[in-house]
Amino acid sequence: MKLLVTGGCGFIGSHVIDALILDGHEVINLDALTYAADPANNAAVAGSPRYRFVHGNICDAALVADLVNEVDVVVNFAAETHVDRSLHDPVPFVRTDVEGVAVLLEAVRRRPGLRLVHMSTDEVFGSLPPGVEADVNRPFAPASPYAASKAAAELLIAAYRHTYGLPITVIRACNLYGPRQHPEKFIPLFITQALRREPMPLYGDGLQEREWLYIDDFVDAFRRVLAAPDGGPLVVHVASGERLPNRRIAELICGLTGAPLSLIHPVADRPGHDRRYALDASTARALGWAPKVPLEEGLARTVEWYRVHGRSRLEREEYRRWFVAQYAERLGAGKGGESG
Ligand code: DAU
Repeated sequence: MKLLVTGGCGFIGSHVIDALILDGHEVINLDALTYAADPANNAAVAGSPRYRFVHGNICDAALVADLVNEVDVVVNFAAETHVDRSLHDPVPFVRTDVEGVAVLLEAVRRRPGLRLVHMSTDEVFGSLPPGVEADVNRPFAPASPYAASKAAAELLIAAYRHTYGLPITVIRACNLYGPRQHPEKFIPLFITQALRREPMPLYGDGLQEREWLYIDDFVDAFRRVLAAPDGGPLVVHVASGERLPNRRIAELICGLTGAPLSLIHPVADRPGHDRRYALDASTARALGWAPKVPLEEGLARTVEWYRVHGRSRLEREEYRRWFVAQYAERLGAGKGGESG
């Protein structure tokens, strides 16, 4: 198979590309190289004659129209993904996560037979009451600009499916974690802070619940979606069932890194913070998928990776600026002083 993978220099995209090359496919990686990308993520495949990197943006309609002529499948991982950044500056999220998807959809519409697989998120459903799991038909209720931009993209996709009968699969995943994730995200942030014995900024009361899946298990689910007969299901929920409060994750990270629990530092909460996500993953299980890496093992592997690789990422200037803007004041406000 020949695939155009967008956002392939990021966390999820790079792991999927590694698997695709291993499986014998040809891959074009279209990536805009924003702050979240790292070409080093593609080191394992860079020398393969079946891998090609193209520097460019999914909003560039002429470039996308050109590239889709070369492939059988388009896989979209290109996105602005960090909720906190979407609270500071939502417009780039609308540009990439909505307009970019519109550009991909137009390119797919003009090339009959081309398949699109699009990466979405459990956040389209907003916060769920205790005990509830979102099935694939649950109505959307996004609560952050990031989540709203992902929901908007999904509405466009549904309209294109309905109007033009396009073969599009949407994968909604829970929180993924593992090697190569940008340290702005919760688990790599807490691991890198713990390894340096620096405070770990826990938002609010730390009892918000997320569902965590190790990246290799996501890649396994993705392979099954790609191999599913007749284009596979329209929507697949990929999630582990391992739902824990953030504070518990922070404690596990302290245990794995030897950092004292006193480094867990409650800070002012994220505005509009969703309390709880939970997906009903029966659509992924129907493809024969089940997660294999338990949380503590996945966390241990992730800690090891950041022990070796974490530093170079932290030393990037953009990340330093982000860290100061996001945390300096909150952390300086005194232990526990601001928690919600
Ligand atoms: O649920 C899937 C989504 O998971 C993806 O669609 C998003 O792209 C991805 O960013 C992630 O969103 P979250 O907001 O759940 O992830 P984040 O790593 O930012 O935060 C996870 C939890 O940890 C959340 O409840 C907020 C909390 N948190 C996060 C940060 C960065 C803290 O307590 N302190 C922090 O410094």
